[in-house]
Amino acid sequence: KSRTAILCAIADVVGVGLGVIIGYFSHPAPAAPIYPTENPTISKLLMDEMKAKNIMNNLKTLTSRPHIAGQEQEEIVLVDWIKQQWTEAGIDSIVVHPYDVLLSYPKQNDSNYVSIKLANGTEIEQSQRKELVIDAEQNDPNVVDPFNAYSPPGEPEAELVYVNFATIEDFIALNRTYKINTVGKICISRYGRIFRGDKAVHAELYGCIGLILYSDPLDYTVPWSGVYPEDWFPPTGAQRGTLWVDNGDPRTPNYPSIPSAWHQSNSSLTLPKIPVTPIGNIDAIKYLSKMGGPEVPTDWRGGMNITYRFGPGFALEHVNRYVMSGKNTVLIKMSVKTTNQVATIHNVIGYVRGAVEPDRYVLLGNHRDAWVFGAIDPSSGTATLMELVRGFGAMLKRGWRPRRTLVFCSWGAEEYGLIGSTEWVEELQKELQARAVAYLNVDIAVQGNYSLAANGVASLSQAVFDAAKTVSNPNPTEVSSGRLTLYDTWKLRYPASVGDKPSYYGLGSGSDFTAFLQIIGIPSVDLRHTYDQSIGLASYPVYHSVYETFELVNKFVDPGFKIHLAMAQVWGELARKLADVPILPVDCRVYATDLAQKRDALYQQYGSKMESNGIDFSQLNDTILIFTTSADNIHKRIASIDSTNAYETRMINDQLMQLERAFIDQNPLPGRVAYRHVISAPSQHNTYGSTAFPAVVDAMFDIDVDPDQTGRWDEVRRQYSILVFHILSAAATLNPTVPT
Ligand SMILES: *[C@@H]1O[C@H](CO)[C@@H](O)[C@H](O)[C@H]1NC(C)=O
Ligand SMILES: *[C@@H]1O[C@H](CO)[C@@H](O)[C@H](O)[C@H]1NC(C)=O
Ligand SMILES: *[C@@H]1O[C@H](CO)[C@@H](O)[C@H](O)[C@H]1NC(C)=O
Ligand SMILES: *[C@@H]1O[C@H](CO)[C@@H](O)[C@H](O)[C@H]1NC(C)=O
Ligand SMILES: *[C@@H]1O[C@H](CO)[C@@H](O)[C@H](O)[C@H]1NC(C)=O
Ligand SMILES: *[C@@H]1O[C@H](CO)[C@@H](O)[C@H](O)[C@H]1NC(C)=O
Ligand SMILES: *[C@@H]1O[C@H](CO)[C@@H](O)[C@H](O)[C@H]1NC(C)=O
Ligand SMILES: [Zn+2]
Repeated sequence: KSRTAILCAIADVVGVGLGVIIGYFSHPAPAAPIYPTENPTISKLLMDEMKAKNIMNNLKTLTSRPHIAGQEQEEIVLVDWIKQQWTEAGIDSIVVHPYDVLLSYPKQNDSNYVSIKLANGTEIEQSQRKELVIDAEQNDPNVVDPFNAYSPPGEPEAELVYVNFATIEDFIALNRTYKINTVGKICISRYGRIFRGDKAVHAELYGCIGLILYSDPLDYTVPWSGVYPEDWFPPTGAQRGTLWVDNGDPRTPNYPSIPSAWHQSNSSLTLPKIPVTPIGNIDAIKYLSKMGGPEVPTDWRGGMNITYRFGPGFALEHVNRYVMSGKNTVLIKMSVKTTNQVATIHNVIGYVRGAVEPDRYVLLGNHRDAWVFGAIDPSSGTATLMELVRGFGAMLKRGWRPRRTLVFCSWGAEEYGLIGSTEWVEELQKELQARAVAYLNVDIAVQGNYSLAANGVASLSQAVFDAAKTVSNPNPTEVSSGRLTLYDTWKLRYPASVGDKPSYYGLGSGSDFTAFLQIIGIPSVDLRHTYDQSIGLASYPVYHSVYETFELVNKFVDPGFKIHLAMAQVWGELARKLADVPILPVDCRVYATDLAQKRDALYQQYGSKMESNGIDFSQLNDTILIFTTSADNIHKRIASIDSTNAYETRMINDQLMQLERAFIDQNPLPGRVAYRHVISAPSQHNTYGSTAFPAVVDAMFDIDVDPDQTGRWDEVRRQYSILVFHILSAAATLNPTVPT
């Protein structure tokens, strides 16, 4: 069909040319080429092509060795393997993008630890420098011991203070309500609630000289869970993880780390200034059980059978055991030898050229690097992506080709702060702004057997729902209960608060969609299959530990790999649809509804306070009405266009594609480097979550916590006006190109 279209186009040009020469036009105007329409039969062919067994074998290969960013297994062995697999799959081209970036490692021969240091210098109750090897599989010399990336090295000694989750609210409560001074202390915080990098920022802000992070059983054990290796809670496991809050190479903010890049000097980097290290639950109990000071309030208590106390320091009974004078010189000591190091990371990018609109990209991405074996994070996603590429390759071999270009991305160094994807988006930002239709992310594909949980921009929710409806339910119990598709279980298990559909939230940060959405406004989606998220886990128990192994996935997470297969199918179908249908499946009306819901939530939380400080809500209300009208109108126009007409289709598609771009401010959100999306971004105090109208909400948060409000209301008014402006701009992008 595409050949016919091209021949028609050539015939037209020749015809017009002859017409000019002989003074006679064969057509009054050149006819637009006829576009082929979607080939829906590919949907089923692609799904049937992919096999659970292949995903299992991919996972085995990917997790055979630790593959942390910047080291040989990750940057050479796996990059070569992916290139070779994708070449065999028969996709059109593969490009590897290397970047020299700043990474961070612990000292392998002198791993980080925590201890209690007695007055005479003796150290007791030292934490494990390594996680216990429970299974032979974990016994690999390339396992990098627990650390938090970008911690500076240091050996602080001080009294210990328990700071709960180390949120801003926790530190404010310590200071104002509980009158506990954190200045000069070592803080111990449980993992969870907010991004660990923000915990370090807060601890530094409140004067701590060191920060210990641990996984409390309350936040990391599940009702059904036994202890590893019988089940997936390992009390000795420590959660590795980055502390970097701004994303991308810390030395090249906003610009790519290409050879010509200018690098910030080491001393001006905004990395943590206090040592930070993670420990496991069996170590945390040694310190927390000995603490003195008042008891913490109920909601600060964790799940260990001890009395949780604020500190500072240890209880006299414990101190007296060691020091007869009774003087509290028994301190906590941290030994952190983590240092920064420049290393080369690689993104592998594969292309399937679009038959009709090769200059429109539908991107699918997943990171490749892991803290250790990474069987769940991210290799469950990588194993799935590999099978999907093979599947699309098989469709090409059948003679199919999508209308638009498919781009497959295997990112490097995500764990360190979304580094590979951010550098690439920074490098290719002009092309991507002009050409990218959507970015579809899968980080972890499967972390539990409960339900699909997809999030993304509002305008793609219906497309995601439709894709999930086409995928057979991988859970036989669910099928026998009459829920035949992935969508059915999703809707049952995570219902939306309004309407007969699954819940689907906006995106903040936490994976590689961030740069796409937050820097250049590419509509993004993030897909994952999870455990029951209502049980309140901070993450799955083995997260970022040495115990994320192939056997764990094979035994507990997805025996048979049927869920992985379902994830390949939903991801593939969504990509196929976005790449193949003539009119993009972008729904602006859903965006309008979503804006109104966000407005209602803002109004409920802050409305009266904002109004009594001179903010006119009718501006936001009217603006959302204008947006709603524009959204309704473009869909009326879509219903009446001739989708075989290239120009009409392309014009509408460009408007749909540009909608998300319109929400990007030319300036970063206040206090941030790489967040520019005014509708949905992480809050300044929690880099993972998604906050609606982030700049306005952050400004209101500051008013709530700061008794000195001088100048703060002006900031709220400023951010409110920026928000209103962007919604008007977005509405304008949807309107007819010539005002009527
Ligand atoms: C670590 O240090 C010990 C003692 O100095 C030495 O025997 C061992 O070879 C070192 N290991 C590594 C990996 O450097
Ligand atoms: C609370 O914070 C203020 C301002 O930083 C400080 O002056 C005061 O000492 C702190 N109070 C405690 C109990 O730490
Ligand atoms: C909790 O600790 C107390 C005091 O050590 C002990 O008596 C009690 O049996 C423990 N409870 C559980 C459930 O382990
Ligand atoms: C230090 O004090 C502890 C506790 O009193 C004691 O067990 C240890 O032997 C002392 N070490 C030295 C080197 O004196
Ligand atoms: C900056 O830090 C990196 C990583 O620690 C190091 O490799 C580099 O030599 C440092 N640069 C300067 C100029 O000190
Ligand atoms: C899902 O996982 C849980 C926890 O591991 C397990 O108890 C349950 O049997 C699994 N359900 C299915 C249908 O596999
Ligand atoms: C704006 O909309 C909210 C939510 O619908 C409503 O409660 C409020 O009264 C409106 N305010 C104005 C000034 O229109
Ligand atoms: Zn990940």
